[in-house]
Amino acid sequence: MAAALSREATVAVIGAGAMGSGIAQVVAQAGHSVRLFDTRIGAAERARDAIGQTLAGLAAKGRIDAVAASEATARIAPIHALGDCVSAGLVVEAIVEDLETKRGLLRELEVIVPRTAILASNTSSLSITALAAGMKSPGRIVGMHFFNPVPLMELVEVISGLATDPEVADTVHATAIAWGKQPVHAKSTPGFIVNRCARPFYGEALRLLAERAADAGTLDALMREAGGFRMGAFELMDLIGNDVNFAVTRSIWEAHFHDPRYAPSLLQQERVAAGYLGRKSGRGFFDYGTDAARPVARTETARPAPARVVLHGEPGIAAPLVARIARAGIAVDRQAPQTAFPDGVMAIGDAWLALSDGRPATVRAAATGTRNLVLFDLALDYGSCARLAVACADGCDSAAFAASVGALQAAGIAVSRLDDAAALAVLRTVAMLANEAADAVTMGIASAGDVDVAMRKGVNYPRGPLEWADAIGVGRVREAIANLAAHYGEDRYRLAPLIERRQAGAGSLAGAFGGAASGKVAT
Ligand code: NAI
Repeated sequence: MAAALSREATVAVIGAGAMGSGIAQVVAQAGHSVRLFDTRIGAAERARDAIGQTLAGLAAKGRIDAVAASEATARIAPIHALGDCVSAGLVVEAIVEDLETKRGLLRELEVIVPRTAILASNTSSLSITALAAGMKSPGRIVGMHFFNPVPLMELVEVISGLATDPEVADTVHATAIAWGKQPVHAKSTPGFIVNRCARPFYGEALRLLAERAADAGTLDALMREAGGFRMGAFELMDLIGNDVNFAVTRSIWEAHFHDPRYAPSLLQQERVAAGYLGRKSGRGFFDYGTDAARPVARTETARPAPARVVLHGEPGIAAPLVARIARAGIAVDRQAPQTAFPDGVMAIGDAWLALSDGRPATVRAAATGTRNLVLFDLALDYGSCARLAVACADGCDSAAFAASVGALQAAGIAVSRLDDAAALAVLRTVAMLANEAADAVTMGIASAGDVDVAMRKGVNYPRGPLEWADAIGVGRVREAIANLAAHYGEDRYRLAPLIERRQAGAGSLAGAFGGAASGKVAT
């Protein structure tokens, strides 16, 4: 394993915008002398002053030592010519996202800095391979992709292009750890790990909205309160900016030669066309005007609790849900499994309540001869979730539906009914995230452990998609995706070969191909 860059080494940061200032702050706090350069006159000084204020503010709140704060600020030296990078052991560029401008900068830098210096780019979308092409020593060009805001976000994707020297990538990895970050290794590929593997989070939410399974506020609430995600997809797209999110999706789709898995959404394109960009324009999927109401999730009205639930078979991952229903004072009787429901089913009055397997309720009801079928969604934790989505078969009668809703409500769960959408919301999203992650692992873009770390640290997912798939069962993910594929008949829902293989071999996904995360493993 390569050693981290020595603390004595000078680090140059080029570009003093949002990312460059954050990087300069982290590097100075790690003890390096920093040279900060920007073509905008005065930008580097202003960034240094702002960092000084931030650090002084943190010291005033007792979060960091006051002496350490002023020493870190003093280590940042604004420079006015690239030639002043002459002693740098590492340069991190965070200038405008343009291939030719970045290549021009790297070409200038490679004749200024020592031969052993590493040249890192914070690009979020450009190919490291393309950036390095034609350089005198392409082996020392590497991606060092920080996340915004840099001082708070732990993840750093260390990107290797075709020519990147593995030792250079390892040194940058070790250096990121020394800076208090959580690095992961990734191959240069469109979207790297996070921006690629996160696409289904937006894509499936947009698909559900397009099919009018529910409104955006309800789908967001389900992602938060059942899925355990910090934000729903629509509020997140509004925060990122629909123009930015749409452009990222589109560029990843184009870079993959129009693979339908990444296809952008017409719904989002319409938002962009209308100027509904999100928070920054005052309106996106939601309205941000001063007197606009906050989105409210559609929730079923209170229904009476049934006296009794009959559990057929083993509830598997839904066991904590059954336990909640029992704790609510509803008698839970156990009976033999039903052949149509090998994963267990609850009989409540005339209703059959089961976990979704990816088929729409109406399709499953027809296949199993169970007219009054109600399906519930996946939850991160059935023992504590505040909300759950349900869908019922078209032929289901209202008394049967009400009995199912009443049982869940008695357990303290708000129920949101979706139109009869295949795989509901959380199951569909988690299955598709795991599918995408499994493909990234198959293609050697990153190890399974690094993919999971990247998604937990880069976009705050409550679980890595692969460990999540293991927790609910690889077979369940396989079944959900196979049923989505059968339902839509679209290549977008094709199953990742690794999921098929792991399910057949009864293996785990998170352990796939020696899945241990590189570097520091999250606790
Ligand atoms: P920004 O616009 O806030 O800052 C860019 C800075 O670079 C500006 O101060 C500009 O004057 C300066 N600059 C432009 N051309 C220059 C040149 N030739 N030499 C020196 N300075 C130059 O942009 P931001 O958001 O900081 O992004 C910078 C880079 O980081 C881009 O490559 C971007 O894709 C990447 N990135 C951005 C993230 C974000 O959330 N904003 C996240 C991760 C990566």
